[in-house]
Amino acid sequence: MKFFVDTAEIDDIKELNALGIVDGVTTNPSLIAKSGRDILEVTKEICDIVDGPVSAEVVALKADDMIAEGRKLAKIAENIAIKVPLTWDGLKACKVLTGEGNMVNVTLCFSANQALLAAKVGATFISPFIGRLDDLNLDGMELIADIREIYDNYGYETEILAASIRSANHMSDCAKVGADVATAPPAVIRNMANHVLTDKGLDAFMKDAEKAGIKIV
Ligand code: E4P
Repeated sequence: MKFFVDTAEIDDIKELNALGIVDGVTTNPSLIAKSGRDILEVTKEICDIVDGPVSAEVVALKADDMIAEGRKLAKIAENIAIKVPLTWDGLKACKVLTGEGNMVNVTLCFSANQALLAAKVGATFISPFIGRLDDLNLDGMELIADIREIYDNYGYETEILAASIRSANHMSDCAKVGADVATAPPAVIRNMANHVLTDKGLDAFMKDAEKAGIKIV
């Protein structure tokens, strides 16, 4: 499973990219607003750091306007994935923009039917939102599994990019049900390294090392 980092914070992207675990980046208007930076400027900086796809989201609602914005975003760098919402207009924009050779990430997906339409119009990525479904007491992971089954039934090449990830467990669950990509905030990715028994075991080893006066360098 590929890991994308869901942020527009440059320091986090640099740190995780240096570890070699970042296969791409996703942003959205809320994350850009949180960064306090200009969208074109910060997106260019991200594209210069990361080799993989960097999703940048349109803010228009009409297909023609989304297409114009998408074309402008695509000029930032070769690894831009234009992000469009899963609306009827978004699907029209996806069809045109993928037809022009761009990567397109269709976002705000909350149902298998929406994912089916995105695959039909040739989306590069479909972004089903796990956390926002879980917030409504629905099962976000079940949606990922349903889309996996449907795409595999027909050999659709659209990649399932699991989004709205809120916990480290979401990451391993996504890998179990076969998401192609999972995008998570930096804190969630770091939290994947944590386990209470690791902390407890390390504490005991450190105490014993100190007692025995073990020194290596
Ligand atoms: C990424 O592509 C999505 O925009 C993001 O994962 C949404 O996450 P949220 O539901 O935590 O805002």
